Amino acid sequence: MNWRNVAELSEDVYWVGARDWNRRLFDALIPLPKGTTYNSYLVVGEKKNALIDTVNPGFEKELEAKISQIVDPRDVDCIIMNHAEPDHAGTIPHFMHLNSKAMLVTTSRGAKMAETFHKVPEKRIRIVSDQETIELGGKTLRFIEAPMLHWPETMFTYLSQGGILFPCDFFGSHVAKALYDDEVEDLIVHARRYFGEIMMPFRNMAEKALEKIKDLEINIIAPSHGPIHRNTQRILKAYKRWARGETRQKATIIYVTMWKSTEKMIHPIAETLASEDIEIALHELTSADVGDIVEDLVESRAIVLGTPTALGGMHPVALSATQLVKALRPPTKFGAVVSSYGWGGGAVRQAKELLTSMKVEVVGAIEVKGPPSESDVEQVIELGKTLARKIKNESH
Ligand SMILES: Cc1cc2nc3c(=O)[nH]c(=O)nc-3n(C[C@H](O)[C@H](O)[C@H](O)COP(=O)(O)O)c2cc1C
Ligand SMILES: [Fe+2]
Ligand SMILES: [Fe+2]
Repeated sequence: MNWRNVAELSEDVYWVGARDWNRRLFDALIPLPKGTTYNSYLVVGEKKNALIDTVNPGFEKELEAKISQIVDPRDVDCIIMNHAEPDHAGTIPHFMHLNSKAMLVTTSRGAKMAETFHKVPEKRIRIVSDQETIELGGKTLRFIEAPMLHWPETMFTYLSQGGILFPCDFFGSHVAKALYDDEVEDLIVHARRYFGEIMMPFRNMAEKALEKIKDLEINIIAPSHGPIHRNTQRILKAYKRWARGETRQKATIIYVTMWKSTEKMIHPIAETLASEDIEIALHELTSADVGDIVEDLVESRAIVLGTPTALGGMHPVALSATQLVKALRPPTKFGAVVSSYGWGGGAVRQAKELLTSMKVEVVGAIEVKGPPSESDVEQVIELGKTLARKIKNESH
């Protein structure tokens, strides 16, 4: 008996993916506290079989063993590549070698990437255009281009029979433990963290993709990481809000401090916001989990940045975190800065420039020489109140 778990989502549609329980970092940047999965799906038709996405390199034998429980891996006719990133496409060469008749199915941009990244020869690629279909016999796959979610070539695959959408990274989350969304209590938190890390910089493309699929009958959403959504409305509604950049009365506070002067201003501003009924999330940057910060930013209306001056500018840890925040393009509307310096200063100017370049309205910035005095703290409290008013006066 084969102990490997293969799940049938719908008639002749199988999850044949792999769980990576111990993966702790993605893209050399984002921590994965709950591991992840690489979801690959097998669709068995009367005439043809298709494999939708593959798995991260290192898991190819596991995928092969799982497919073998259903069909001979040499009988897979099409390998659908929704996305060329190696966590889904990295084992395509293994399967193309194993099975000389299989064709790779992808967009025209995907074809170029498959050649560049995975050395798939042109003659083994079938390029499909937007809305094109492939008939497997009793099963029809439709391809929906969804570019820049989050690479240029990304597309979704839709199986009409049963209404199953395979959107690859879109709607994904990094959770190893469960097959279905209803098996993870805090699924929406993981999904928001994933959205923030991967999709938030491309919110406008996400909105376009959501618009494109709005009339499809979708009963199951089967992404390439984490649980499969049976409760499709929940994730669709959340994605609509996140893609539109709807914010709450919430502030994300990030800071670093060498000798605690900056921290002596961060705590009163955080407490002032909280006493004004603003939801706060506070992260000390040398110990913070970047994914947690990003998850908070998805719905935060404001950001508070605390950094001392070090070497004439922002502390390098605060600088790199703020640059990452900028690159992720959160919907944050308002900002405040608190900072301590020893002699010439420089951090506040740089912090304000950075926040302004993110289209954040900097409501105020306080720069104090050495530790803050009582009157400095009073000013910080006033800044907290001003920021709270701004947050509350904005409708979304
Ligand atoms: C490594 C290091 C570099 C610093 N560079 C500068 C600087 O270039 N200009 C300046 O005004 N202060 C500089 N300072 C002084 C700090 O900004 C000052 O001590 C400040 O109060 C520290 O705030 P903190 O307690 O929040 O870390 C430096 C301090 C350290 C430890
Ligand atoms: Fe990806
Ligand atoms: Fe991925």
